Amino acid sequence: MPRVAVAGQAATRRIALLGVGTVGRALLDRFESLADPRLALCLAANSRRRVYSESGLRASRVPASLASGEAHGGSGVLPAGFAPGDIVVDATASAELAAWHPRWLRQGLAVVSANKLGLGGPLLRQHEIRALAGDGARYGDAATVGAGLPLLRTLRELRAGGDRIGAVVGVLSGTLAWLFDGYDGRESFAARVRAAVAQGYAEPDPRVDLSGEDVRRKLLILARAAGYALEEVEVRVDTLLTPELAALPTDQVDGALEQLDASLAERASRAAADGKVLRYVARFDAAGARIGLEALAADDPLAVGRGCDNRVAIWSTRYRERPLQIQGPGAGAEVTAAALVDDLLRVVA
Ligand SMILES: NC(=O)c1ccc[n+]([C@@H]2O[C@H](COP(=O)([O-])OP(=O)(O)OC[C@H]3O[C@@H](n4cnc5c(N)ncnc54)[C@H](OP(=O)(O)O)[C@@H]3O)[C@@H](O)[C@H]2O)c1
Repeated sequence: MPRVAVAGQAATRRIALLGVGTVGRALLDRFESLADPRLALCLAANSRRRVYSESGLRASRVPASLASGEAHGGSGVLPAGFAPGDIVVDATASAELAAWHPRWLRQGLAVVSANKLGLGGPLLRQHEIRALAGDGARYGDAATVGAGLPLLRTLRELRAGGDRIGAVVGVLSGTLAWLFDGYDGRESFAARVRAAVAQGYAEPDPRVDLSGEDVRRKLLILARAAGYALEEVEVRVDTLLTPELAALPTDQVDGALEQLDASLAERASRAAADGKVLRYVARFDAAGARIGLEALAADDPLAVGRGCDNRVAIWSTRYRERPLQIQGPGAGAEVTAAALVDDLLRVVA
């Protein structure tokens, strides 16, 4: 594949897709209908195997061909064919690969990430990524929070226009939004969690969501984009898990979910008696950052919205009296993959 073809034509950028799970497969589906000569999928990998073609892979064949692909160690080392200007898409939740984000940027590659551990991990790494990626055109993060809803973009544009971000409050987990949508304590919360896992709204191990850890990463990414240099430990997290549930081996979690029922039912019925509903809310302002279950008035902007919707309210210099509100589907493989494509197109724009 020619790197720089004819004068006046843009070079083709190679894409390395790391992670062919729920999001990675949805991205492959999108690639099938995306005929952009500036982009060529050349590498696809899961944690064990990878397929590589210098002349480009056929996206629809990747899942089947991975089974007989080359074994690899799961590190971020790319084949020698990858050169400055090429793009790594991180569609994993791997801490090891997140540590590679600054290294790839230093190699001159661009990074497009659904992995929250790049910008939502240690503060030092976030600083490094921001310093290396400059104006942001070499690091796409739209898929990390709100699955492509214009949250990060809006915060950056407000700040670029001279606004100071005073506070951000939001329902940032599509899974937890789904679990608390319509929950009034009369049915078993454990049964709702099982339904969420069965329907693919929650991870196979639902503790990823119930612990608040996923929301903490998202809040850190938002807060840092808003100009708050928060360390991971500075976010106060009220987990939904009991200590016992948190400590169980993964295969015993499903059978112990009933531990959640009594206290959540009690909180939900107390909220309902006051005409309120429960929502798992993340917030930060100058006083700090915290995450936890809150009882909100039924007409509170954070309480409306259905299913997996994310809702975010932003107070800034120009939105001092009433916040700017952004709401929409904030979870799911399809919208997340679409956000990755948006970022890829921004890289080659
Ligand atoms: N699912 C959603 O709706 C959603 C929405 C927004 C953001 N996200 C984020 O998107 C990322 C991917 O989510 P997912 O739901 O697609 O997860 P998933 O279904 O568990 O897939 C993860 C993929 O990453 C691969 N992987 C893990 N370590 C790797 C390594 N070192 N090198 C190469 N591949 C590696 C896994 O390989 P194996 O199959 O070999 O384990 C698997 O293919 C996560 O960070 C998640 O938080 C997901």
